[in-house]
Amino acid sequence: MKTFRILAVSLAGLAFAGLAHAAGGAKHPHAPEGGWPFEGVTGQYDKASVQRGYQVYKQVCASCHSMKLLSYRNLGEEGGPFYDPAYPNPNDNPFVKALAAENEIVSPVPNDVGEFDLRPATPADRFRSPFPNDAAARAANGGALPPDLSVITKARVGGASYIYSLLTGYPDFALYEDRITEENGETVYTTVIDMAKFEKLGEYMPHHGPAYLIQPTGQYYNPYMAGDTKPNYLGDPRHAPPGGFLAMGPQLTDGRVEYTDGTEATIDQMAIDVSQFLTWAGDPKLQARKEVGLATMVYLGILTILLWFSYKRIWRKVEH
Ligand code: HEC
Repeated sequence: MKTFRILAVSLAGLAFAGLAHAAGGAKHPHAPEGGWPFEGVTGQYDKASVQRGYQVYKQVCASCHSMKLLSYRNLGEEGGPFYDPAYPNPNDNPFVKALAAENEIVSPVPNDVGEFDLRPATPADRFRSPFPNDAAARAANGGALPPDLSVITKARVGGASYIYSLLTGYPDFALYEDRITEENGETVYTTVIDMAKFEKLGEYMPHHGPAYLIQPTGQYYNPYMAGDTKPNYLGDPRHAPPGGFLAMGPQLTDGRVEYTDGTEATIDQMAIDVSQFLTWAGDPKLQARKEVGLATMVYLGILTILLWFSYKRIWRKVEH
């Protein structure tokens, strides 16, 4: 009876988990179609995708977001996107050297007269930061601080899927409407979003009547951002859309970068690549860990079988 109850509860739990998964919709971050290659027991990074992701980070995100925990040499380390077995020491890897040298950094060491010169980065240098400090970063971004992206996939629920969903989740530009109104003799410019046309929201889409969302100045609506849209929703507050506002506008447009490997740079592709790059940055040893982990499990499995038989053999003549 007890076993039966335990079984029933576990089955019910599984069913609920399935439902929650199926209800993915716009609220919960979701992986791209086909999932992530690095998932599962044996999953590994798609090296070409991580390489392209670095290009997206460098050409799009790096103008606002730092990655202070990374050095250029990490790109050429084993498990890294530009690892070359011919150069076990990434500091010698000419490609990594060239990638580093594309960035001009303030030398961390003063020159003979005590000044800090600008110089091309070397593999030993940390990634170039776009701003000298947080205050300067805020000043350039309307008061909001673009978070450091070194371990962002570990810092947000949903990891890579969250980054992917966030980057691809913004409404299309066609849904934005500029409104000019007069308030107390002053002209007020606002941007509203026609939520009734926002098909990506899926089941959360409003079903009846016009439903507009007012976007605060300097803020952008995103269904995956944590927040509350009720105060800005011109519709039934009980059906306010999921998500919230953030100070980062949509960053990816088709063809935003020109991939050096010839891959077509669609919004989806760039989001996949940069999310995978950021996952690698936060978990660079995934490959080695999974390889060792699997070998350990197999070893322990064999050991268990051997121990079982030796136990049987040793206690064979003892009554118990
Ligand atoms: C023009 C500057 C700018 C660029 C370019 C930019 N961002 Fe942002 N980003 C911001 C700002 C500002 C915030 C903080 C928003 C806030 O807290 O309201 C932010 C926040 C984020 C967040 C955190 C969202 C959260 O959950 O808090 C992530 C993740 C992110 N950006 C990823 C990216 C990626 C990936 C790229 C490149 C494809 C990128 N950003 C390009 C300015 C930028």
